[in-house]
Amino acid sequence: MAVEVIILAAGKGTRMRSSLPKVLHRLAGKPLVAHVIERARNLEADKVHVVIGHGAEQVRDTLGAEQVQWAVQEEQLGTGHAVHQATPAVADDAVALILYGDVPLIRSETLNHLLDLVDEKHMALLTVHMDDPAGYGRIIRDGRGDITAIVEQKDATPEQLAIHEVNTGILAVHAAQLKEWLPQLSSDNAQGEYYLTDIIGMAVQNGVRVRGAQPDYLQEVQGINDRVQLAALERWYQARLAEGLMRSGATLRDPARIDVRGDVETGQDVEIDVNVVLSGRVRIGDRVRIGANVVIVDAEIADGAEILENTVLEDCRVGENCVVGPFARLRPGTELAAGAKVGNFVETKKARVGEGSKINHLSYVGDAELGRNVNVGAGTITCNYDGANKHRTDIGDDVFIGSNSSLVAPLRIGDGATVGAGSTITSEVEDGALGVARGKQRNIPNWKRPLKLKKKD
Ligand code: UD1
Ligand code: CA
Repeated sequence: MAVEVIILAAGKGTRMRSSLPKVLHRLAGKPLVAHVIERARNLEADKVHVVIGHGAEQVRDTLGAEQVQWAVQEEQLGTGHAVHQATPAVADDAVALILYGDVPLIRSETLNHLLDLVDEKHMALLTVHMDDPAGYGRIIRDGRGDITAIVEQKDATPEQLAIHEVNTGILAVHAAQLKEWLPQLSSDNAQGEYYLTDIIGMAVQNGVRVRGAQPDYLQEVQGINDRVQLAALERWYQARLAEGLMRSGATLRDPARIDVRGDVETGQDVEIDVNVVLSGRVRIGDRVRIGANVVIVDAEIADGAEILENTVLEDCRVGENCVVGPFARLRPGTELAAGAKVGNFVETKKARVGEGSKINHLSYVGDAELGRNVNVGAGTITCNYDGANKHRTDIGDDVFIGSNSSLVAPLRIGDGATVGAGSTITSEVEDGALGVARGKQRNIPNWKRPLKLKKKD
């Protein structure tokens, strides 16, 4: 059975009080509607249609890379009208599944369960029981338990308002039937809108029974209308993600103080201290320790490595048993081989650091390759930029760079070479040589310091 998903994302989201369309606000680092698209993909839907309206250009630009069919709803005339904008591109023999760009956490399991209920004689609706159903469409059932209607809050009688089972809006129906019913919708109701929910009555009239299914978690069908709801859903989701990491073998010092904003995998016996943010694609091996206040974006950290407090890693690879930080910053293109050490107030960028090499204090190493067992002294700077172009620094194995040296690129320093502290090195230091480039020391004996003049009064 082919499934085509229609995601409604045309609404304004007035209560966000934002110039950004609501569906582009981020949950766990990703636009709300991108969560919904990903969940549709997990179902292996044949096509994903997204109905956009408010901020259509911005939504399309942000999600440009997604393989979806766009439908534009110029005026927001109701949920039925919105679905109608997409249906011409839906195959008649498919099942249409309606999702919402501002309901990001619906689970694939729940959707599969819903889809299982659909055939030519049945459509399916996801409903939920709420302590406070105010604002939602109420579910009306007959004596058999079949759903016969959904009545919107504004159109409901006092008896109907007392019903606690409500419409989540998520439903699945044969596309041919949907296409037949949508043109028959009328806007003759309290809000003057074309209600999608009115197709329930049409189904019943046409002998199509309406079955209900329920999600396991209320949060799956929670829509986002304002930033308070966004924050609450983010916390719930983060708690689940943290639980996932713990179940896979990570100790979290405080599961409420870690944020996962991407695709994160951790090995066994990983320890993560408080206030750690993991974004993008992050792979963390076994026995890795991550200190407090560490931010990691798109990085691979091999077994046994330690990332100490207040370190920032972006788009880099950290080898086995490396020690990084505290207060280190590894920028894109940094690759540390096994056992390398990068210490406090060190910044690296496009730097490959060989096995066992150390850059322990206060340095900048950019556009550079370092061999094995190199020792870079405190305050060493690769001068990689001449104001117009970047140049490379190539350092061999077993090199010792004395403290406070400037290495002016392009530059090669050969295997086993030494650079004297305080040098400004501008040309090659050959294998095994000592390069020193600094003012020669001169001592003046019996030096008299100036005396302080007596103040005249
Ligand atoms: C809708 C349901 C209600 C259900 C509730 C669950 C209808 C008539 N009512 O009510 O039964 O309990 O959702 O939250 O369907 N949208 C568009 N274009 C439009 C109108 C809406 O894209 O013209 C999108 C909105 O961006 C939003 C979603 O559809 O994401 C729901 O629209 P909204 O107007 O908020 O529907 P509700 O009144 O909440
Ligand atoms: Ca609403």
